[in-house]
Amino acid sequence: MSAPVRSILFVPGDSERKIEKSRASGADAIVLDLEDSVAQARKAIARETVATLLRDGARADKMAYWVRINPIDTPDALHDLAAIVAGRPAGILLPKAQSPADVAQLSLYLDALEIRDDIAPGSIPIMPVATETARAPLTLHHYPDAALPRLFGITWGAEDLSSALGASSNKDDDGRLSLSYRVARSLTLMAAKACGVEAIDTVYPDFRDLDGLKRDSLASRREGFTGRFAIHPDQVEIINAAFSPTSDEIAWSQQVVAAFAAAPDAGVVALDGKMLDMPHLKQARHILALSDAHMTA
Ligand code: COA
Ligand code: MG
Repeated sequence: MSAPVRSILFVPGDSERKIEKSRASGADAIVLDLEDSVAQARKAIARETVATLLRDGARADKMAYWVRINPIDTPDALHDLAAIVAGRPAGILLPKAQSPADVAQLSLYLDALEIRDDIAPGSIPIMPVATETARAPLTLHHYPDAALPRLFGITWGAEDLSSALGASSNKDDDGRLSLSYRVARSLTLMAAKACGVEAIDTVYPDFRDLDGLKRDSLASRREGFTGRFAIHPDQVEIINAAFSPTSDEIAWSQQVVAAFAAAPDAGVVALDGKMLDMPHLKQARHILALSDAHMTA
């Protein structure tokens, strides 16, 4: 399975210029888009550009290239997959997934194409965007019981959901996301955690507002998300920093692990006058594992 990701930068699949620029962005992963950022008339060009890049270019660089295909119920989706699987994308981002059944269907397509292209079975992971239709958020609670071994993470989106709900805006008067979108977001987080996979937060669309992005990303990590999408290279560094453990957190985690190691039979220990028990140890180990993974990725 791929390494954990903090930032995943969207790049329109038909823009050679942006694809080239994305290489220097510092993003943990790039998602080459064949869906909404590509006009219908340019779908075939984008598909060919992405397929060629994966086949020829991407082998040489170390970037993790994901591909966002078109929704599974459109004819474009099969054309996308037929063109790009041979290039061994780091994963497939599935937009407008209606339910875990859509992920299972994509998984079957990948089973066949991996055999065709001589790729280890099951090696291409999937991440659904699991809130982009009115029905989709209502099925999030089915993910933990669905057998989806390719599931890398679950993410969500507010823009398509608002059009599906007939909303004139997805924001309240104070600029905060309205309740329906916050509910969809929370359910995404819980579904991902219940599945034991990455919880990836959505884009911050106002790409000139870097202070807002920082605040929003720090809050997102505090809540449990493990990374988020970027739409502009300027967003990447801020996202990487926000989703990395801080040096204080790493120092605290090392102290917690050491305190438990020094008292192997204790279920509870004290550190700086505070009680620590198993959830703290688990959290400390998680932080250290994350910091190791980001350092070695
Ligand atoms: N990936 C790589 N490079 C990008 C980029 C991206 N996502 N977004 C912008 N750049 C490049 C631009 O090409 C530009 O470089 P150049 O002047 O050498 O051509 C530079 O970064 C600065 O861009 P800027 O002028 O600030 O923005 P813009 O007006 O060119 O582009 C967007 C704004 C929103 C159109 C662009 O950021 C974009 O295409 N984002 C991705 C959209 C997407 O994929 N959406 C789907 C998911 S929601
Ligand atoms: Mg969309």
